[in-house]
Amino acid sequence: MGYRVAVVGATGSVGREMMAILEELEFPVDEIFAVASRKSIGVDVSYANRILKCEALDQFDFSKVDIVLMSAGGAVSKEWSPKIGKAGPVVIDNSSAWRMDPDVPLIVPEVNPDAITLFRRKNIIANPNCSTIQLVVALKPLHDAARIKRVVVSTYQAVSGAGKEGMDELWDQTKGIFVLGATPPRKFPKQIAFNVIPFIGAFKDDGYTDEETKMWNETHKMLDPSIKLTVTCVRVPVMVGHSEAVNVEFETPLDADDAREVLREAPGIMVVDKHDETGYITPKDAQGEFAVYVSRIRNDPTVPYGLNLWVVSDNLRKGAALNAVQIAQLLHERGLIEKAHA
Ligand SMILES: NC(=O)c1ccc[n+]([C@@H]2O[C@H](COP(=O)([O-])OP(=O)(O)OC[C@H]3O[C@@H](n4cnc5c(N)ncnc54)[C@H](OP(=O)(O)O)[C@@H]3O)[C@@H](O)[C@H]2O)c1
Repeated sequence: MGYRVAVVGATGSVGREMMAILEELEFPVDEIFAVASRKSIGVDVSYANRILKCEALDQFDFSKVDIVLMSAGGAVSKEWSPKIGKAGPVVIDNSSAWRMDPDVPLIVPEVNPDAITLFRRKNIIANPNCSTIQLVVALKPLHDAARIKRVVVSTYQAVSGAGKEGMDELWDQTKGIFVLGATPPRKFPKQIAFNVIPFIGAFKDDGYTDEETKMWNETHKMLDPSIKLTVTCVRVPVMVGHSEAVNVEFETPLDADDAREVLREAPGIMVVDKHDETGYITPKDAQGEFAVYVSRIRNDPTVPYGLNLWVVSDNLRKGAALNAVQIAQLLHERGLIEKAHA
């Protein structure tokens, strides 16, 4: 017997990946529902070899499902996740709305699976920010091996991190530049085609952006609050796949060869690190894949024990939909899902 699952935000970039990954991972689904806003009522969403008709969030009876994969933005989640959680199903939420709530576990199954038991307090589990997920998957085994003191990260984030509007904007501007001239920016603050934008989210008083703040807050919540972490988040004209240049300083020795071995054994990671012109991963290589890829592993000779890494993953998969479905799998494996119609 499988579960009754609702995907909220089923017409979005992440929601569609969730549908695909539920099938790819053979998650035990008995019945599945596609849910979005009223404007999407009746829109076709595919799951396995079936077409589902989308239903409206505010008309859907959540008491008939066991699990809700929520991917409809922070404002929708703030309003709806507590109501849905009270109606019975466990909510696995992709937005930033609940990530730092002390009564809501923030989970990457390779990093802190045991924290999941906390979910009963609100019946909500938070999925971290896409850039944080791939970072902590790479950092966790290194931290276990040599205790991380400090991390400096620069991100190269794909436009799909800003949803389907972000992807449309890169596509329209890229086409437009050769034909009619660039279309004006709408989703991003400046032209993204043939450009990079060192600003994601909103400015905070200290000059950092909330995207940057999320990365250290979430890393501290899941991995270790004593790790010093500083970040610059940059949007790049790539459709899918976030990359990160990561500098790590350790308390105890760990050289590049040791790190390669540790990372090769770690769950969720693929090391691709050959010293030839193509012996590393780009976002295009990672698109559609499940792994967090680590390449360009080098000793940093400017500190006693330090490394430089290049970390790439599909932001719509491990950065969002895959991690959410893995959380559902973790609940299933631990027998933590209560069925609406047992
Ligand atoms: N993209 C990423 O890399 C990524 C990574 C991690 C987390 N996330 C988070 O995942 C969430 C979704 O991201 P996305 O990239 O999939 O965005 P998206 O492509 O813009 O899709 C948004 C989805 O939310 C639905 N929605 C919007 N307002 C709604 C409402 N009032 N009621 C019901 N449904 C509503 C939309 O339905 P309609 O089509 O009916 O409007 C659509 O299905 C966001 O919270 C985002 O921060 C995204």
